[in-house]
Amino acid sequence: MTHTPPAGLHPETLAIGFGYDPSSAQGAAKPPVYLTSTYVYPSAEHAKAVHAAYFDGAPVPEGGGYIYSRLNHPNLDMIEQRLAALDKGEDAAVFSSGMAAISAITMQYLRPGDAVLHSQPIYGGVDSLLYNTLSGFGVRPFPIADALSEDAMWTAAEAAMADGPIGLIMIETPANPTASIADIAVAAAVAKRVAEKQNGRRPLVTVDNTFLGPFVQTPLAHGADLTVTALTKYCGGHSDLLAGGVSGAKAVVEPLKKLRMVLGSHLDPFSSWLLLRSLETLPLRTARAGSNALLVATFLREHPKVTGTTYIGFADNASPSRQVLDKQATGYGSTFSFTLKGGEGEAFRLLNKLRVLRMAVSLGGSETLICHPATTTHYATPKARRDAVGITDGTLRVSVGLEHPDDLIADLAQALEAV
Ligand SMILES: Cc1ncc(COP(=O)(O)O)c(C=O)c1O
Repeated sequence: MTHTPPAGLHPETLAIGFGYDPSSAQGAAKPPVYLTSTYVYPSAEHAKAVHAAYFDGAPVPEGGGYIYSRLNHPNLDMIEQRLAALDKGEDAAVFSSGMAAISAITMQYLRPGDAVLHSQPIYGGVDSLLYNTLSGFGVRPFPIADALSEDAMWTAAEAAMADGPIGLIMIETPANPTASIADIAVAAAVAKRVAEKQNGRRPLVTVDNTFLGPFVQTPLAHGADLTVTALTKYCGGHSDLLAGGVSGAKAVVEPLKKLRMVLGSHLDPFSSWLLLRSLETLPLRTARAGSNALLVATFLREHPKVTGTTYIGFADNASPSRQVLDKQATGYGSTFSFTLKGGEGEAFRLLNKLRVLRMAVSLGGSETLICHPATTTHYATPKARRDAVGITDGTLRVSVGLEHPDDLIADLAQALEAV
C-alpha cells in the first residue's frame, strides 16, 4: 500500500501522525497493536479479491486487505508509510533487522557472477554477507579505495567489469566506526556510466544511512536508489528492538516486499508499533544527541590522554570529506571514535572505571554506549585490516545518548584519570 504524504507538511509533523488514520480503529488516538497472525475473510469472494490485490495489484476490496501477517499487517503498513515519508521515498519495506533488509536487497538484485562495489570500511555483517556468504554463490565484492573520488570508483568499476556485470554499488556514509564519507552523487554518476557499458543495466546504488538517520541525511534526494537503515539504532532509539528499513521508488521496493514474504523476515506487529512511536521523537532525539556529542567530542579532543577523534564535525572545512558531508547531510550525528595514547590496557582501564556510560555494542539508543571495537565489534576482523581503517588497540567507539552532557563528561574525566 502506498500513500502520498499531504503536500507542504514538514518531516517533524509527518513523524507524529502520518501513516495512521484513527477512523480505521474506532477513533483511537494511537494505533492498536494488531496481535494476530491471520485475517478472517467475510466471504470467499472477498478472499479472492484480497489475494488479487496482494499478488496482482488489483484495488483493495472494501472491508480490508490483509491475509496473513507474514505477508503484511496494519502495523507494518503504518511504519512503512511513515518511514517512506521521512526518507522522501515513494515506498518503504520494513524487516526484522538491518541485516535482514540488506540481505533481501542482495538476494533480489544480485545474480551469480555479479560484482558489488562497496565503500570501506563497511559494517561487519555486510562484509561477512559479501565475502563469506555471497561469494560462495559467485558474487564478486570489490572495495572502492576512496569513495569521495569518481576516479577511484571508476577504477573499481573497471576492475569489476573485466569479469562480468556490476549489480550493486553499496555505500555506507558515514562509515562505522571510522566516519569515512562516501559521495552519494558520485556513486549515482558512476552507476550511470556503468549502465552505458552494460547494455543499459544500471547497478542500483544503496546507501546505509544508519549513522545519521532521515533527519540529517536523505540519500534518495542525492541520487541513491535505496536508502537502507538499521532502524534498530537511532530510529528505534531506545535499544529495545531490532528492525531494518529500505526506502525508494515503488518499483524497486515492491519486489523486496514480495521476497520478504517468502523469507519470512517481516517486522512483527509489536516491534512495528514500538518503532512507529519511536519515530515521533526521532527529530528531538537526533538534535539532543547531536548537541551532546559535540560537547563530549570537544572534551575528548582537548584531553591530553586522547590522540584524536573521528567526530566528523571537526574535519577541516576545506577537506573533501567535509565538503561532501556538508553537501549531502545537515549534521554530524552522535557516534564517533576516539583513540587513547597507549593500547588495549589503557582502553580497558578506562572502560572498567566508567559509571554512567554503559559498555555495550550497538548505538543510537537514549543511553550513551561505549565499546572497544578491536575486541568486540571488529573482533573477527584481522588486525592488518583493522589498522588499515584506523581501528587501533587504543580506539574506543562512543554513541552519545540523551543524558545531561555534564554527567557524561564528568564520567569520562574520572575514568581517564585511571588510564
Ligand atoms: C551501519 C550499520 N548497518 C547495518 C547494521 C545491521 O543492523 P542490525 O543489527 O539491525 O541487523 C548495523 C548494526 O550495527 C550497522 O551499524
